[in-house]
Amino acid sequence: MKKLIVANWKMNLGVRDSYNLAAAYKKLIKKSKNQVVACPSFCAIADVAEVLKTSDLAWGAQDISWDLKGACTGEVSGVTLQELGCTYVIIGHSERRQRLGESCRMVNLKAKTALDLTLTPIICVGESEVKRSAGASETFVKGQVKRALAEIKLKPMQELVIAYEPIWAIGSGKTAKPRDIEAMHCLIRETAMKMLGTEAKLRVIYGGSVDDTSVEAIAMMPSVDGFLVGGASLKPEVFAKIAKVE
Ligand code: PGA
Repeated sequence: MKKLIVANWKMNLGVRDSYNLAAAYKKLIKKSKNQVVACPSFCAIADVAEVLKTSDLAWGAQDISWDLKGACTGEVSGVTLQELGCTYVIIGHSERRQRLGESCRMVNLKAKTALDLTLTPIICVGESEVKRSAGASETFVKGQVKRALAEIKLKPMQELVIAYEPIWAIGSGKTAKPRDIEAMHCLIRETAMKMLGTEAKLRVIYGGSVDDTSVEAIAMMPSVDGFLVGGASLKPEVFAKIAKVE
């Protein structure tokens, strides 16, 4: 099945480097069976779009304001993202939740705003090492999913993506075990489908130290619909291999 492979460049690249990385993606990732999405920082989106508009790749943003317009200094509206051709937006990444205090309520508002536009939300959830050692991962992640999806109804054709990103696996070189990922993805799917309805188009993707050596074993799990890739997405050859995963 076609997978969703999302590159999260975080705040690692400036405008010129983002442009160059997009050009490398375009050269290396051709006729991919998977849907591949690049998410640069806000300021680089226009330049990345210029490169990728003549490719099979899509692009998106790493955050969105829950307001469409108005007195929100420093925020970026989904209307602007749409104008720049974004089709996806990452919401509630753990780095934003931890560093900036982004709450589940904010994540929920942002997801609703994205869906009111034509942006597919990629909602990030995942437990910390502390929660994991306390054996509380399932309860915690289930709670995050429920709060993120409160009052959300998908219109026909609309899609929603949940990225399971255990915080302890992000940027640490430690990936979760394929069977643990599978179990958590099943729980996320079950929880989300109860809220969205069984017809909902939902994809559950995994993120956390994915690279070209770990990707295949995880991709074999039936509930893994794709990947959210941070560090390895900055290396075009490595990311191109990940993008080709079956
Ligand atoms: P990583 O980041 O692949 O570098 O662990 C993933 C993410 O934070 O989205």
